[in-house]
Amino acid sequence: MSDAEALYHAIHESVPEMSRWLPFAHENYSIRETRDYLKGRPDGWKKDTDYSFVIIDSRDGTIIGGCGLNGIDKENSRANLGYWVRTSRTSQGVATAATLLLAKWGFMVVKLCRIEILAAVGNKSSQRVAEKVGAQREGVLRNRLKIGDDLHDAIMYSLIPGDFIKTG
Ligand SMILES: CC(C)(COP(=O)(O)OP(=O)(O)OC[C@H]1O[C@@H](n2cnc3c(N)ncnc32)[C@H](O)[C@@H]1OP(=O)(O)O)[C@@H](O)C(=O)NCCC(=O)NCCS
Repeated sequence: MSDAEALYHAIHESVPEMSRWLPFAHENYSIRETRDYLKGRPDGWKKDTDYSFVIIDSRDGTIIGGCGLNGIDKENSRANLGYWVRTSRTSQGVATAATLLLAKWGFMVVKLCRIEILAAVGNKSSQRVAEKVGAQREGVLRNRLKIGDDLHDAIMYSLIPGDFIKTG
C-alpha cells in the first residue's frame, strides 16, 4: 500500500497511451482505483491465480511499469503474461527486460510449461516486445480481445522453457 501514490502517478501520466490497450487506465483514473487494485494482489499470490509485479528502476526505486502472470491455467501449467511501462520511460527496453525476467521466473519458480503473450493487431510496440524476447508468433486470433466496446483481432505469441532456458 505504501507504493500506491507512486504507482498511481506512473499510471496517471500514461493514460493517453495506455487507455487504448488497457482500459483500466481510463481518463478519470483515480488513486482509489490504485488502492483497490493493490488490495486484491495478495489474494492472487495466496491462491496462485495472479502474480503481479511492479517494475522499478533499480538505481533509485522509481516505479516505471508493471507486469504479471495471470489467467493461470493450472491444469495445463500455462499463463498469460502482461506488461505496461510508464510513458516517460518507454522505448528504453524496459518491457523487454521485465518480460525476460518474469518468463524465466514463471518457468523456474511457478513451473509453467507455456507462457502466452497476446497483443492486439494494432499494438505494434507490444508485438515488438514479444518478438524481442524470442516468443514464437503462432497466429492471429479473431475477435480475441474486447477493449472497451471494441473487438480486436490479436496475435498470439508463446514462450516455452526451451526457448531460453538451457536444461540438463
Ligand atoms: C507496449 C509497452 C509495454 C512497451 O514497453 P517498452 O518498455 O517501451 O518496450 P521496449 O522498449 O522493450 O520495446 C518496445 C519496442 O517497440 C518499438 N515501438 C514503439 N512504438 C512502435 C510502433 N508504433 N510501431 C512499431 N514499433 C514500435 C520500439 O522501437 C521498441 O523496439 P526496438 O527496441 O526494436 O526499437 C508500452 O508501450 C506500453 O505500456 N504500452 C501501453 C500498454 C500496453 O499496450 N501493454 C501491452 C498490452 S498487450
